[in-house]
Amino acid sequence: MNSKYLLTLSICFLGLVACKTTQPNSQNTTLQKPAENQGFYQFTNEDPNASPFFAKKASVYGKNGMIIATHPVASQVGADILKQGGNAIDAAVSTQFALAVVHPAAGNIGGGGFLVYRDKNGQSYTLDYREKAPENASRDMYLDENKNIKAGQPSWLGHLASGTPGSVDGLEQAHKRFGKLSWKQVLQPAIDLAENGVKLTAREARGLNNVKADLLKYNPTKTYFMKTDTAKWKEGEILIQKDLAKTLRLIQEQGRKGFYEGETAKLLLAEMKRGGGIITQKDLDNYHAVWREAVIGNYKNLKVISMPPPSSGGIALLQLLKFVEPYPLQKWGWHSDSTTQVMIEAERRVYADRSKWLGDPDFAKVPQKELLDAEYLKKRWQDFQFAQATDSKIVKGGDIIGYESPETTHSSFVDKEGNAVSITTTLNGSYGSKVVVDGAGFLMNDEMDDFSIKPGVPNVYGLIGNEANAIAANKRMLSSMTPTIVEKDGKLMMVLGTPGGSTIITSVFQVFLNVAEHQMSMQQAVDALRFHHQWMPDRTTFEEGAFTEKTLIRMRERGYKLDSQKNTIGRMDCILVLPDGTYEGGADVRADDTAVGY
Ligand code: DON
Repeated sequence: MNSKYLLTLSICFLGLVACKTTQPNSQNTTLQKPAENQGFYQFTNEDPNASPFFAKKASVYGKNGMIIATHPVASQVGADILKQGGNAIDAAVSTQFALAVVHPAAGNIGGGGFLVYRDKNGQSYTLDYREKAPENASRDMYLDENKNIKAGQPSWLGHLASGTPGSVDGLEQAHKRFGKLSWKQVLQPAIDLAENGVKLTAREARGLNNVKADLLKYNPTKTYFMKTDTAKWKEGEILIQKDLAKTLRLIQEQGRKGFYEGETAKLLLAEMKRGGGIITQKDLDNYHAVWREAVIGNYKNLKVISMPPPSSGGIALLQLLKFVEPYPLQKWGWHSDSTTQVMIEAERRVYADRSKWLGDPDFAKVPQKELLDAEYLKKRWQDFQFAQATDSKIVKGGDIIGYESPETTHSSFVDKEGNAVSITTTLNGSYGSKVVVDGAGFLMNDEMDDFSIKPGVPNVYGLIGNEANAIAANKRMLSSMTPTIVEKDGKLMMVLGTPGGSTIITSVFQVFLNVAEHQMSMQQAVDALRFHHQWMPDRTTFEEGAFTEKTLIRMRERGYKLDSQKNTIGRMDCILVLPDGTYEGGADVRADDTAVGY
């Protein structure tokens, strides 16, 4: 594995490392678990002392709505919007702007994201507000004259790492189409938080202290996000962001114009000029989020609604589910060797396809139907055998006839009518490119690294890409973000999603199966330990304790390379609708994530 991958993955996951302890449940639990829903998951482990859970946290319940986000203040903002008569979209938009203030590592207005919406009548929509390569971007912009990666100009740091941001246009479009409250009302909580300050959690304080050297390097004359040049933030101290408040007020008054034109645009372009960035006014004018048809498929009796390209998430999730569907996972048990083996083999094949076939559908046709075709998947599975792990080197992206060849944040929302929203948004790395727009107070993304900057060269998540994801002017970079909604018998059942770079898809896959096959509550499903395989490198990483020693021995005998890691995998924030209609919130115990039921 290359050192850039290791270094950056560890930076991305610094924010995800948490202590494996039983944490007190400080949440706003408004309802007790209904008696008829007691007694979900019985864990039978060969080691009676082992626990399958990262830590134990109580579920949160709500009858009228549920908001889950990675910061308690942002979740509360969403819940308050519901209480003021807002719907799930109002709550989602308000929470996203609040996250841009209280969780600057990933909440953003300088980045982009994806939104999956299922309304109370079962109609689904997806909104792509992914960043775009600027018009002056080009295929080899990070390569030297010998087509080698240029030294000193990473695709994941500094001004040249940014794509044209999509969040403000996307959130405005979502609100315009489906919101109920006024734009002014949904923006106000974020403005207040920026203006009056927010109390730092221990995690947020640590994040800001860790990123300080990079912030100083890329913003030498500024002190954004810094207490002083020398002092460190402590938990409970107040972070005030006056310039960001001013920018948010312009967005509140003028909508997208308050960001893509006028004062904010001027400051953004000046910042680009100062640091050698290439975003132009034309890029800002041309940025528009796109409504796309959801990727929809079935797993047994469940309907899965997820994000289409330029995210790989929806297609990959459905491929994974289709590969494992024929097997008796429930009977085999959670993380038994057979269950794990078919999941890893599915992941190996799916990530190979991702690398070969997926990219921005506005630039090259993505063979979506073919990738999900039953015959195609059957052929891809032909070389699987229980006796021996398949070698990733011989698994290539599948052949399709007729074709040539850490920091993100997820939040989930449901209102009392059953409208549901699943949003994953990102700056890419923790605190993005580390460039703060001077005078406007927001961080820019480093999403250009999600392109394949050179065929076969891994990005910071170790993902390898090819032609389909090569850089081109105005193209969207491929993503792994997998905001997903699940239906059962025509009714809302789950809202799912997580950050975690390449591990997003496999985390959503596991939490889905934990509920659908292993009868876990949503909180158990989220807290259960996770593992990850992505074809290349050919190894499975897992959270310490995810497998029993016996399972590890049996898997290794069959040729699987399995390594435990201290860093956590994913940060799932999910909702389950219980049979009586109560919403159960599962906020990941691995970080500050908080469910607020209403
Ligand atoms: O779009 C993507 O797939 C990545 N930019 C997501 C990055 C991410 O999840 C970082 N979080 N730890």
